[in-house]
Amino acid sequence: MTNRRPFVAANWKMNGNLASIRPLLADILAGVQTGMNAEVVICPPYIYIDEIALRLDNTTIGLGAQNVSHHDSGAHTGEVAIGMLQDYNTGYVIIGHSERRMLYGETDGIVAEKFKKVVDSGLKPILCVGETLEQREADETEEVIARQLDTVIDNAGVKSFAKAVIAYEPVWAIGTGRTATPDQAQEVHAFIRLRLARHDEEIADLLRIVYGGSVKADNANELFTMADIDGGLIGGASLIAEDFLSICQAAI
Ligand code: PGA
Repeated sequence: MTNRRPFVAANWKMNGNLASIRPLLADILAGVQTGMNAEVVICPPYIYIDEIALRLDNTTIGLGAQNVSHHDSGAHTGEVAIGMLQDYNTGYVIIGHSERRMLYGETDGIVAEKFKKVVDSGLKPILCVGETLEQREADETEEVIARQLDTVIDNAGVKSFAKAVIAYEPVWAIGTGRTATPDQAQEVHAFIRLRLARHDEEIADLLRIVYGGSVKADNANELFTMADIDGGLIGGASLIAEDFLSICQAAI
């Protein structure tokens, strides 16, 4: 197996305010500065990107955005363009999170457009894929994941995955406290890698595929030891510095 550097990203979603994120970030920074194997990235709410970018400058922690518009500019009230993210040294952008897909109507096609825009601009996408509980119970997991991946591969090309990270996030595990078992997650991660390998084995081998969905300090270890799980996308537990740091430490 190729030696892929583990990747752990904090997805703060729409949580916190300046009074809470300043000490949270300071504690995470202090912990990460003592040395981590994993590449660590923080994805704050947009409005704090400017402040967090300044605080992460000259540190080993990277900055990510939680979303981006698939338009370049213009009359799109409330949206943020990729060029704006470039102003703040944003390294990564989460694309196609299930909350975006389900609550804000993002289709596979829109997700693919966003993915391409991020790659073309030189930023790196964290592409989220995952099935709902109904789909899993109807035995449609692989079909759903394949469709989500293939739309992006067809639109952006397999080579565009060279700098991407994929996050497998079963919708039924997000924020529910119900984590996929290491075997359940590994099975889908292996499927994703194989799907990419049909187009390009080298890209598939180097691609980091991380797991997201109720990752906690006490289950990260067993998830991250699986062969095709290269780290995590962490929601709730990334809002508590101590928990997030133990998860980062488990990614070796
Ligand atoms: P969770 O969220 O860790 O709170 O389940 C993960 C995510 O949605 O990225």
